[in-house]
Amino acid sequence: MTEKEVFGWLCEVVHPGKDDKDIVSLGMVEEVVVDKGKVTVTLSFPKRPDPLKNYLVGAVRAAVYRQAPGGTEVEVKTVVKDPAPEKKKGVQDLGLEQVGSVAHIIGIASGKGGVGKSTVAVNLAIALARLGYKVGLADADVYGPSVPIMTDTEGEVPEAEPGEEEGKELFIPIEKYGVKWMSIGYFAQPGQALIWRGPMACSALKQMILQVKWGVLDFLLVDMPPGTGDIHISLVNDIPMEGAVIVTTPQPVALADVEKGVNMFRNPSINRPIFGLVENMAWFTPEEHPEEKYYIFGKDGGAGMAERFGIGLLGQIPLVQSIREAGDAGEPVALGTRPDSLAFLDLARKLVDAIMHID
Ligand SMILES: Nc1ncnc2c1ncn2[C@@H]1O[C@H](COP(=O)(O)OP(=O)(O)OP(=O)(O)O)[C@@H](O)[C@H]1O
Ligand SMILES: [Mg+2]
Repeated sequence: MTEKEVFGWLCEVVHPGKDDKDIVSLGMVEEVVVDKGKVTVTLSFPKRPDPLKNYLVGAVRAAVYRQAPGGTEVEVKTVVKDPAPEKKKGVQDLGLEQVGSVAHIIGIASGKGGVGKSTVAVNLAIALARLGYKVGLADADVYGPSVPIMTDTEGEVPEAEPGEEEGKELFIPIEKYGVKWMSIGYFAQPGQALIWRGPMACSALKQMILQVKWGVLDFLLVDMPPGTGDIHISLVNDIPMEGAVIVTTPQPVALADVEKGVNMFRNPSINRPIFGLVENMAWFTPEEHPEEKYYIFGKDGGAGMAERFGIGLLGQIPLVQSIREAGDAGEPVALGTRPDSLAFLDLARKLVDAIMHID
């Protein structure tokens, strides 16, 4: 029995007074401690008395008893937390107001899946933070959120605090490595596949961007889901996204997908600039022979695509085992000083340059 498992069970406890939302996504679960045969759950309640407090304490106890091994002792504690919301007057659209203090919202996109968008997005975010910028990253991949694993923040649950609008809460991003992270993965039961259908997926991912207390940010990167479907168009339309970075591999087969990605942003109804192209997996370098380069997906394919579509090449990132391992271990390479770490710092500098110089 682990704390993560218990969090999973608590996702089944809903608050009947709050649209039947579960207590984990409501940010009410302050802490879960599993110590040998004992589970202690701490629930937080706002100062305003909650008439359902006793009911929820009982429901939590019952949920844990039901799922925990026989003989487990369960204790439910409660704490009172003053949410102290920062009020801003005269705001019509809570969502847009929240991203109002974000200077640049940049989508990290590609037409194709698995080319390394999330790897590039996470490392780029960390690299920008290392350069001294205030950075956030919203994982908009509702189907396969990867940010929690890539940053080793799985099992963290963002707190919620009341927003300006009744019943609409703001999520507090998870801070690590100098970056503010938000992902739908933080709201899922560990190991549970997320199944969202069109409109629901859309509204869930917009929430991951608009219903978040980002505070003042220089850059908010949005790790887009793969593809160029309706969800993407609606996402780009409804979020004040300034422009995009396209990630690709050098393979000729990626060309058609990159074209779709580029066209999505250049489509007259969207019409946002593309700040540049990142060629990921540009060559393979074995760990034991750092000086060698094998162009297994073809040489300079990304550079060729950039030229063809009239966008700048922001950088080439090699395919190295450490990038994959670091991603899986939740300690992105951009935190270090290896050559591939520095490649992301260079990428970050070039992106800032491109954003500042686009007309
Ligand atoms: N430069 C690289 N070197 C080594 N491994 C890499 C590199 N870039 C990405 N990977 C690995 O490739 C896999 C896919 O990368 P990632 O999840 O970033 O792609 P994605 O484009 O976000 O995928 P999806 O379309 O599913 O969202 C991951 O296991 C990642 O660790
Ligand atoms: Mg991804």
